[in-house]
Amino acid sequence: MNKKTLAAGVAAVAITMGIAAVGSMDASAQMGPSWGPKWTKDGKLHLPSNFRRWVFLGSPLTPNGLNDGKAGFPEYHNVYVHPEVFDIYRKTGEWPEGTILLKELQLVREGTYPDGSGDEASGRGFFPGKLNGIDISVKDSKRFKDTNGWGFYNFGHNAPPYPKSAELAPADACASCHMANATNMVFKKFYAPILDAK
Ligand code: HEC
Repeated sequence: MNKKTLAAGVAAVAITMGIAAVGSMDASAQMGPSWGPKWTKDGKLHLPSNFRRWVFLGSPLTPNGLNDGKAGFPEYHNVYVHPEVFDIYRKTGEWPEGTILLKELQLVREGTYPDGSGDEASGRGFFPGKLNGIDISVKDSKRFKDTNGWGFYNFGHNAPPYPKSAELAPADACASCHMANATNMVFKKFYAPILDAK
């Protein structure tokens, strides 16, 4: 083997090793669009960063004052989606693979009336208070084929800081209710005014 072929051989080996190194990296964390879910090596979902700069879709509210003081989720449910997913949905009417819907819970500010409402210059009502937890749903038809292609993750029902990652919630804790009650797993009707706005 002359010097030239040796050098070529070394280069080829280096390239092969490079490819192997990329292949051995946490492959699932590297795949998919930049806005898609990021997974830890042991398959937990990373909490997306910067989600408060995403598109705000809406905020259903089930306050304690209207639920005998015992609402399961007495907060505003602030729902966000990444701007690129928002654009794709508006074009196609479908949530693309890798969609993350993020719902941040926000307590109703403590009011002066027994039902939790209070007065402001705008009138008597419920007003936003402290942040109080995060729930996420992720579309991945293969990974979550047993639950209609969506997986559900809870990042705490408490004030921030939130955990940086969360494991898949059991189907009976989350997915089952969405399977039974939502259209295609998402309660789209609550976001339609913003999602479908012309
Ligand atoms: C008993 C039914 C029920 C259960 C259980 C439930 N959800 Fe939901 N979820 C809803 C409803 C209804 C909405 C929309 C209205 C609202 O937020 O009040 C919703 C909205 C959401 C949204 C916003 C996107 C969408 O589909 O509208 C996310 C994300 C979400 N839930 C995640 C979760 C997670 C994570 C769990 C488990 C920890 C969970 N949900 C358990 C009923 C449920």
